[in-house]
Amino acid sequence: MAKEFDLSVKVGALELKNPLIAASGTFGYGSEFADFVDPSSYGAIAVKGLSLNPKEGNPMPRIVETSAGMLNAIGLENVGLRRFIEEKLDYLRTLDTKVIANFFGNTVEDYAAMASCLSEVEGIHALEMNISCPNVKAGGIAFGTDPLLAAEVVGAAKKAANLPLIVKLSPNVTDIKVLARAVEEAGADAISLINTITGMAVNLDRQTPALANVTGGLSGPAIKPVALRMTWEALSAVKIPVIGLGGIVTGEDALEFLCLGACAVQIGTANFIKPLSVLDILSEIEHYLTAKGIGRVTDFIGTFRIP
Ligand SMILES: Cc1cc2nc3c(=O)[nH]c(=O)nc-3n(C[C@H](O)[C@H](O)[C@H](O)COP(=O)(O)O)c2cc1C
Repeated sequence: MAKEFDLSVKVGALELKNPLIAASGTFGYGSEFADFVDPSSYGAIAVKGLSLNPKEGNPMPRIVETSAGMLNAIGLENVGLRRFIEEKLDYLRTLDTKVIANFFGNTVEDYAAMASCLSEVEGIHALEMNISCPNVKAGGIAFGTDPLLAAEVVGAAKKAANLPLIVKLSPNVTDIKVLARAVEEAGADAISLINTITGMAVNLDRQTPALANVTGGLSGPAIKPVALRMTWEALSAVKIPVIGLGGIVTGEDALEFLCLGACAVQIGTANFIKPLSVLDILSEIEHYLTAKGIGRVTDFIGTFRIP
């Protein structure tokens, strides 16, 4: 009898039944997608970014379609830590998948408090900290664009955390390798990249910005080449596991990141284009690798070479 195809991967100590993780902010808290696709199809779900207190987000319009992508300026709207634990986690606990709590803050203390609190709750398997947020005490510079601030906030969160800590990097920097090294040295257990790329769109008829916030984050197929380049650079800079994302909509897109050496990938905007994407991507990975005579995903990870 033919051996079953092995999709399982490891992100450090975190074992996933398959390499696909729902990207934060694109799959809600899981339940929102349950009418369309079984959320347990994912190897893990990174939930919508959480803050200590609920956040309303930015005024509308806050989403606009672009060529091969979308711009969003949601402004990290979320139910806050308490309501997440009381109202959202019970459903997530019923799923046959790993739960990654994505979180953010505006001070080092916020991040440490979030990491500590989320580590104590049953049903969360790993933490993902989004460091693209402004540090209110350092004049609003984003934590993720300054290596010293990034190291400080990751160090504080790591000290407070009792779960694997993934640090999600912003692509809006000159040299991603410097940031990757800084968070590795500060104790990150893994890195995920990329978050959205800052962009804007113009409403020509009105001669106004298309987004009320003026600028927003670009995601979707348009950003895949940038995400691949940054994943490759991060992989060359650190020894900790790297999770790749940005513009993945097909199995072959996912395999490109895995081939570079990413230990897993995240699926974001593709969930909006087609909620069943996760199933298609999984079967495309299996078909592609089976045709190559490869029986498990891990054998393909890191096979990239420059001739
Ligand atoms: C509508 C929307 C909301 C998002 N919210 C978050 C968030 O709360 N936290 C976070 O770390 N990333 C957030 N992201 C970024 C995605 O997780 C992902 O990094 C980015 O979209 C690139 O991947 P993609 O091209 O596959 O969508 C959001 C993206 C979108 C499109």
